[in-house]
Amino acid sequence: MKNSDYGLDGFLSHLKGVFSITVEDSRDIIKAFHQEMNLGLAGMNSSLKMIPSFVGPPKGTEKGRYIVVDLGGTNIRIMSVELDGKGNIDVSAVSRLVIPNEMICGTGEALFDHIAEYIGHFFEKHHIGGQKTYDLAFTFSFPIEQHSLVSGILIGWTKNFTASGVVGKDVVAMLSEALKRKNMGFINVVALANDTVGTLMARRYSDPSCDMGVIIGTGTNACYPEKTSRILKYTDPGTFEEIIINMEWGGFAGLKMNIYDQALDLASGNPGMQHLEKMVSGMYLGEIARRVIVDMITRGVLFCGSNLSALSGEYTLRTEHLSLVAQGSDFFEEFGITDVSETDRMAISEACRIVSTRSARIVGVAIAAVVTWMDKSLERNHTVAIDGALFEKYPGYSDCVADMLHELLGERAERIRLELVKDGSGIGSAVIGAVAASSCRHR
Ligand code: BGC
Repeated sequence: MKNSDYGLDGFLSHLKGVFSITVEDSRDIIKAFHQEMNLGLAGMNSSLKMIPSFVGPPKGTEKGRYIVVDLGGTNIRIMSVELDGKGNIDVSAVSRLVIPNEMICGTGEALFDHIAEYIGHFFEKHHIGGQKTYDLAFTFSFPIEQHSLVSGILIGWTKNFTASGVVGKDVVAMLSEALKRKNMGFINVVALANDTVGTLMARRYSDPSCDMGVIIGTGTNACYPEKTSRILKYTDPGTFEEIIINMEWGGFAGLKMNIYDQALDLASGNPGMQHLEKMVSGMYLGEIARRVIVDMITRGVLFCGSNLSALSGEYTLRTEHLSLVAQGSDFFEEFGITDVSETDRMAISEACRIVSTRSARIVGVAIAAVVTWMDKSLERNHTVAIDGALFEKYPGYSDCVADMLHELLGERAERIRLELVKDGSGIGSAVIGAVAASSCRHR
C-alpha cells in the first residue's frame, strides 16, 4: 500500500484484507493440514510433529490418586487428584503459582529444583504424608518426543522459555533427579503428558464423545485419538487400538504470513518456527497488534502521528490489553498515551478486533481440519475439550471460533461442541496415570 492511498478508513479496510481468512483460504489450509498430518504420522518431514503419547482414551472406570504437576506457559499448578472409577474426578488440593522469570531463563537444573521445592511446599501446606510412596503425573506443555509414557525428550522450548540444558534431555529423568536431590525420592513419576492430551483425557473420562483436546492460551496446540494402524512411525506393540496424538499444531507452516507476522517472527527467539502459534496464541496477539498500531502511527493515520515512543517496546502491549479494549475499556493511561480522539479509540478497537478475529478464525479452521480428518462427513458428534485463557476470557473469542466452524461446515457444525475444561490439562494427566496403571493390570 502506498502512503497516498490511505486515510484511516482506507487503512483499516486494507488491514482487514491483510488479516482475513476467507472460506476459500480455509479449504486450502485444511488440505495442507491433512497433508502435513499424513507426513507427520509417517515420520516424514512435516511442520506437524504428530507425537504419539503412548496412551489411549480412558474408559471412565480407571481409579487412583495422583499428585499432579502442571507446568504451563505462565503458571505452575500442583494438585492432588482422585478418580473414583465412575467417571468422577475429585481435586482435593491445589497450589498455583506464576512461574518466576528466573525459572524460565535460568538453568534446567534450577528449573527442576524449583519444581521439586514447590512439590515439597505443597505436601507441607496440604498436610500430605504417611504413605510410603506417591505417584506423580507430570503435565509438561512443550514439545516432547515421547519414548514411553514415562519418558520424553524436549525437542525445543516454545513460548518464552529458554532454561538451559533441557533441550535433548528426558524431562521425567530431570524431575526425578531433582526430587531425589530434595529428599523426595519416594515420589514416582508415573505419567508424562502434554497439556492438550491432559485436557482431552480429563473430559473423555466422563464423556465418550470427547475426541479432541485444544489449548488456546499462552501457546496453542491440539491432540486427538488416532488408530495405531494409521501411525506408520509408531512401532510400539502396546495394548491400545488408538493412541492420542499430540499434534503440536502451533508449528503448522501452511498459513500466509503478512508483513507484521514476518517481522514478529524474525525478531522472535525462535524465528521460522511455531508459525501458527505466533498468529494465534495469547503470547503473541498483543505484539502483533502493537506492530500494527505502530505502523498506523508512523503512517500518520493514528494519534496524528504522536505517541509513537509509548508503544515502541516489544511485547509491552499484551493480549490482556486487547481484551480490555474488546470490553470497551482501554490501555491508554498505563502507556501514558494522551490526546486520544474518538476516532483514534475506534481505530485501535478495530485494529485489535481484526487481530483477535484472525486468531479465532484460524483456530476454527484448524479444529475443522482435525475433526474432518477423523470423520470426513461429520457423521458423529464430537466434543472438543478446550482450556486456555484466550478461549476462556477474551470477549467474543469462543463465539468467533464457533462462527467459523459454521461458515465452513454449515449445519454439520452442530455436531461439534466446544467445551471449556478448566484446569483439564493437569487433571487429565492423573487420568493418564490411571489408564496406564489399569492397562498394566490387564496385560
Ligand atoms: C507447545 C505445546 C503446548 C502448547 C500449549 C506450545 O507452545 O509447543 O506443547 O501444548 O504450547 O500450551
